Amino acid sequence: MTSFGQSPDGHEARLYTLENSNGFRAEITDYGGIIVRLFARDRKGRLGDVVLGFDTLAGYVAQSPYFGCIIGRVGNRIANGQFTLNGQTYTLAKNNRPGGIPCHLHGGMRGFDKVWWDAEPFTNADGGGLRLRYQSKDGEEGYPGNLDVSVTYLVTGDDALRIDYEAQTDRATPVNLTNHSYFNLAGEGAPPVLGHALTLNASAYTPVNAGLIPRGEITPVENTPFDFRAPHTIGDRIDRPHEQLRFAGGYDHNFALDARDGAPAIAATVLEPQSGRLLEVLTTEPGVQFYSGNFLTGMLAGKNGHVYPRRGGFCLETQHFPDSPNQPDFPPVILQPGATLHSTTVYRFSTR
Ligand code: BGC
Repeated sequence: MTSFGQSPDGHEARLYTLENSNGFRAEITDYGGIIVRLFARDRKGRLGDVVLGFDTLAGYVAQSPYFGCIIGRVGNRIANGQFTLNGQTYTLAKNNRPGGIPCHLHGGMRGFDKVWWDAEPFTNADGGGLRLRYQSKDGEEGYPGNLDVSVTYLVTGDDALRIDYEAQTDRATPVNLTNHSYFNLAGEGAPPVLGHALTLNASAYTPVNAGLIPRGEITPVENTPFDFRAPHTIGDRIDRPHEQLRFAGGYDHNFALDARDGAPAIAATVLEPQSGRLLEVLTTEPGVQFYSGNFLTGMLAGKNGHVYPRRGGFCLETQHFPDSPNQPDFPPVILQPGATLHSTTVYRFSTR
């Protein structure tokens, strides 16, 4: 464990290294539970850092577009920053306005990406792990109930980073947790990810309105630029004159994953042909938000002096569907007192 710098309010951030015997390694800080670096081998065996981010805590505190962090209490958007639960209407911060339409995004002004997590490193037979815990207070960011959250990162022997989420509450509340890593499998700082070949195990997606809020339908991807059931490069169809791509400036959509049975199952695979790096994403979640980094503006000075261009990284945010608290036909996200939320996602690396 090393220091990752001090926040403006004098809090010392810690950086933990989790690794296996192959040299696959993740560096994670207790501020926002952020994956700061993730080193995976290419076809020739060279390790490269495949996630976007900043060299120091200051970058994350100042201006991060959610690089690498834990997202909560509710990931993605909630229409108009409002939902009703058990007859009571809750009003949340409207901290985002795509298309000029205000909404709540990623848990609010100070979501789980900006809080300090209690960190407990451990090692087991697989490799290194880090257990992070946070208690979100009743009323925090407008949400009901004291929520105990635990997020466990584990580096395993097969070059995977496994993330286990758990949560318990003392009042019914919506919960939808994810990780917001931006990947570039050619290495952070490499050109846009348009040449990465993506496969998504999803026959349907949830189209959005101009404010990037799901319209409510779960629509087949067949004959659309959203059909990634067979591999397509991210860039192949991204600039087609399609209303959905226009609203988001590219891909920024929730895909409804096929055939889940409770165990982590393949949601996505991504191959970067030059390096040969292959990322497989497995999850127990029903959805994945595929975001092609359209809002990166080429203005952020990231790690190693790299300026990240538009679409310089992609996210695969495994989660329940956006705006679920307002969408009766989506899988429910309400956690009840006495129940425990369990969710697992695995980011596994190999080469081709
Ligand atoms: C959202 C994007 C948003 C980004 C924030 C993604 O999860 O889908 O619309 O801009 O997070 O960096």
